[in-house]
Amino acid sequence: MKSFVVAISGASGSIYGIRLVEELLKTEAFVHLCISSTAFSIIETETGISLSGKTAKEAEKKIQKHFASREIRSYSEHNLAAPVSSGSFITEGMFVVPCSMKTLSGIANGYANNLIERAADVVLKEGRKLILAPREMPFSAIHLENMLKLSRLGVTIAPPVPAFYQKPKDLNDIVNFVVGKILDCAGLTHNLFRRWDENQSG
Ligand SMILES: Cc1cc2nc3c(=O)[nH]c(=O)nc-3n(C[C@H](O)[C@H](O)[C@H](O)COP(=O)(O)O)c2cc1C
Repeated sequence: MKSFVVAISGASGSIYGIRLVEELLKTEAFVHLCISSTAFSIIETETGISLSGKTAKEAEKKIQKHFASREIRSYSEHNLAAPVSSGSFITEGMFVVPCSMKTLSGIANGYANNLIERAADVVLKEGRKLILAPREMPFSAIHLENMLKLSRLGVTIAPPVPAFYQKPKDLNDIVNFVVGKILDCAGLTHNLFRRWDENQSG
């Protein structure tokens, strides 16, 4: 079974991270999830879903219940002893969706101050796939420099920018398009949107 690290950091667009986890679990992947403290409250504000708990174990139970799966483990961002903190623990790679500018900076500068940044540092040093969905508007030169630095290191920068040629009917279509494109970046199959072909009309 393939396993992936998924981090949801404190940027707007937490629904993308949640949909990504749902899709990975459908592909029978094992997910190692880390949600930052800020992301827990943003998830609640933006989606109404409460995944936090008084302890990491309590949060994990809520997370397993929400995703109706035991193929998921979750870790506190403060748990630097989690398996994904070590390069000896093998994963296929890592997604940070959405990725805040603070987490982007931490990863770009090797400042492994929490589990998200450390796990990304590990994935980078081990030469595994790292896919970030940075979310901010507008970007400053600092943000862009951090993205360029990471892109040059082989990191995939996949900002959650929807396209409209699919004529999305609702928010769900937009979320599915963005998450589908993120899965494409990892070479994973999905059914989240209809692919463009030249005969596509109206
Ligand atoms: C409701 C809300 C929305 C936010 N949206 C963004 C965002 O889209 N992008 C961003 O870089 N920071 C955003 N922030 C600020 C980050 O949460 C903040 O910089 C935090 O320190 C990020 O920490 P983390 O990356 O460890 O989760 C938002 C904060 C809140 C409360």
